Amino acid sequence: MSQKMRTQVGIVGAGPAGLVLSHLLYLHGIDSVVIENRSRQYVEERVRAGVLEQGTVDLLTEMGVGERLKREGLVHYGIELRFNGRGHRIDFKDLTHGKGITIYAQHEVLKDLNNARIATGGQVIFEAQNVAVCDFDGSAPKILFRKDEKDFELQCDFIAGCDGFHGICRPAIPADVLTMFDRTYPFGWLGILAETPPASDELIYAYHERGFALLSMRSLEISRLYIQCTPDEDIAEWPDEKIWQELHQRLAAEDFKLNEGAVIQKGVTGMRSFVVEPMRYKRLFLAGDSAHIVPPTGAKGLNLAVADVRVLARAFDRFYKHGQPDLLDRYSEICLRRVWKVQRFSWWMTSMLHRFPDENPFDRRRQLAELDYVTSSRAASQSLAENYVGLSFDED
Ligand code: FAD
Ligand code: PHB
Repeated sequence: MSQKMRTQVGIVGAGPAGLVLSHLLYLHGIDSVVIENRSRQYVEERVRAGVLEQGTVDLLTEMGVGERLKREGLVHYGIELRFNGRGHRIDFKDLTHGKGITIYAQHEVLKDLNNARIATGGQVIFEAQNVAVCDFDGSAPKILFRKDEKDFELQCDFIAGCDGFHGICRPAIPADVLTMFDRTYPFGWLGILAETPPASDELIYAYHERGFALLSMRSLEISRLYIQCTPDEDIAEWPDEKIWQELHQRLAAEDFKLNEGAVIQKGVTGMRSFVVEPMRYKRLFLAGDSAHIVPPTGAKGLNLAVADVRVLARAFDRFYKHGQPDLLDRYSEICLRRVWKVQRFSWWMTSMLHRFPDENPFDRRRQLAELDYVTSSRAASQSLAENYVGLSFDED
């Protein structure tokens, strides 16, 4: 016999989408329970994204989880595009009426959210096994799971599938009602975290004939660096010296000196663009990576996940306060407009900055012309800047 529990919104996954949704619902007076299959420690240590859009920062601050972010986050008002050995700054402050981005690691956001959920009596169940969703095509959906050798049945009004790309919610929807849009790129990113002060105050996106490189950071003491590699690159073939050598070459510019330091983490990430339509099936709503993946070149994955649940929380609020399901009915349509614009931007940044195995000399000249245009035309720079700091929410 399984032990029965009850909540209004059952959430699968304690990533950015699941935890932001749960805390927003709490602030609206709506009950939720989050079911996560990993441990709290694993979730809070997993190295992923690091760039927060202005809108994400504003939302976290309004939710009361922005205090440490404000103290420890690094606010940047520009990025550099580097090609032909020269840097070109895109000035966000000037081009977007004062907006910027904040460097603050995803796992730090998750720590803050977990603490806020716990401090306000929220329920986040970690290390749940055999998680499954059922009956979401009727009026009484359930999340089933096993924890500490006991079976549980969480009865809910709605389920939010915030369980990432490899989760169980999207595959639980009948395949014939979903359309998937998919593109995999013929390269990946090899990323390192290094104990060394970042060699630049702002992020540097470098186009180089040896392949793309990115200089980012987590703090004034820790650098985050990436190089373009093959999608199935064997990390064992990349001793630290070889990575530094490659970074030196790809980021080289006059008066620039890359600081080396101890490598404390390294890994390879594949690159894909993916969208599922619609993002809802009856009483199951998909949000974040469970519904879409963007290549990391635009730094958008986490921000898009947060944008989805912002819409979803508002739709649940309207449903529970006023009995109106209209926003829930429009959830997928509202989110997909933003999703596709962010897909376009992430695809564009990716295609402009990487070497492609099947490219020809025409493609290379075109990429360089694109970089030249985007760094010399105010209109083109402004388009990059407004997408990078985050499109506004006004049109929702
Ligand atoms: P997730 O963060 O994936 O959260 C989903 C949660 O659901 C996880 O905690 C997972 O453990 C849990 N879950 C999965 N299956 C189940 C199940 N069956 N039952 C219960 N829980 C389950 N974006 C960038 O902008 N820059 C980057 O550098 C960057 N690097 C990345 C590196 C990697 C390896 C990955 C995978 C993603 C990266 N991203 C990056 C993307 C960004 O981190 C994601 O877009 C963001 O985490 C999406 O949040 P989410 O809450 O939708 O999904
Ligand atoms: C990061 O700091 O991890 C990062 C920054 C910018 C990106 C992707 C990743 O575009």
